[in-house]
Amino acid sequence: AAELRTERFGRNLTVLAKTDSTQTEAETLARAGAPEGTLVVAEEQTSGRGRQGRAWHSPPGRGVWMSTVLRPEGPLTAVPQLTLLAAVAVCRAIRAASGVEAGIKWPNDLLAGGRKLCGILLEAVVEDGGIRHCIMGIGIDANLEESDYPEELRDRVTSLRRESGTEVDRSALIAAVMNEFETLYALYAESGFEPIRLLWESLSVTLGREIVVRDVRGERRGRAEGLGAQGELLMRAEDGSLAAVYSGDVELYPG
Ligand code: BTN
Repeated sequence: AAELRTERFGRNLTVLAKTDSTQTEAETLARAGAPEGTLVVAEEQTSGRGRQGRAWHSPPGRGVWMSTVLRPEGPLTAVPQLTLLAAVAVCRAIRAASGVEAGIKWPNDLLAGGRKLCGILLEAVVEDGGIRHCIMGIGIDANLEESDYPEELRDRVTSLRRESGTEVDRSALIAAVMNEFETLYALYAESGFEPIRLLWESLSVTLGREIVVRDVRGERRGRAEGLGAQGELLMRAEDGSLAAVYSGDVELYPG
């Protein structure tokens, strides 16, 4: 089983049986001055939050629901890049800890066999035009079973247990995520986004696919071609033009 090999990430740890959201817990700790890498893990969340104001289903005992305090040095433009970095780190950790060949759907959903098994929510607190701190929330459906999900989610989600056929060691998985994240975060601080961008592209299940993007501007259809230098998704529209997508939801077309 993977052991924690980090200097900072996951060293300051709070484990809760039940909480509203680990995002809220970590935010409170961050405001009180908690160091970077502070980690909050819960067995159950009663109001887990997802991207775009959605709820995150977080039943007790079989998932990994956790939030980490980040204190990045960079400008606000680092936020989308950190979002993608988080996806790379978790994807690599999942592969190493469970053998499941997870892939990334832009920006940071992790899928296996076309179904979602992990979601990531990066929330930044901004102050004077810079980042005061960020809370990186990670939800992994580690050992969830079909009966853990509400009916309407069942055909869109999966878990590591379901994909691999064996129970995953959740502590080892958490350690693997912290190990991967600390390594990639140091690489990002030293070398910038380019190496992260390349790793993201290599783990992506979005690129080359026909997609529909839904954002504030409505719905657009095209082919995902790559990731830009800021972390934006480059999409070739039907009229041949190249569009940059900075936020929104992506749906992959089957095939
Ligand atoms: C998404 O895919 O919409 C992001 C889901 C993020 C869920 C995690 S679980 C731990 C942390 N606490 C929350 O309330 N949300 C994140």
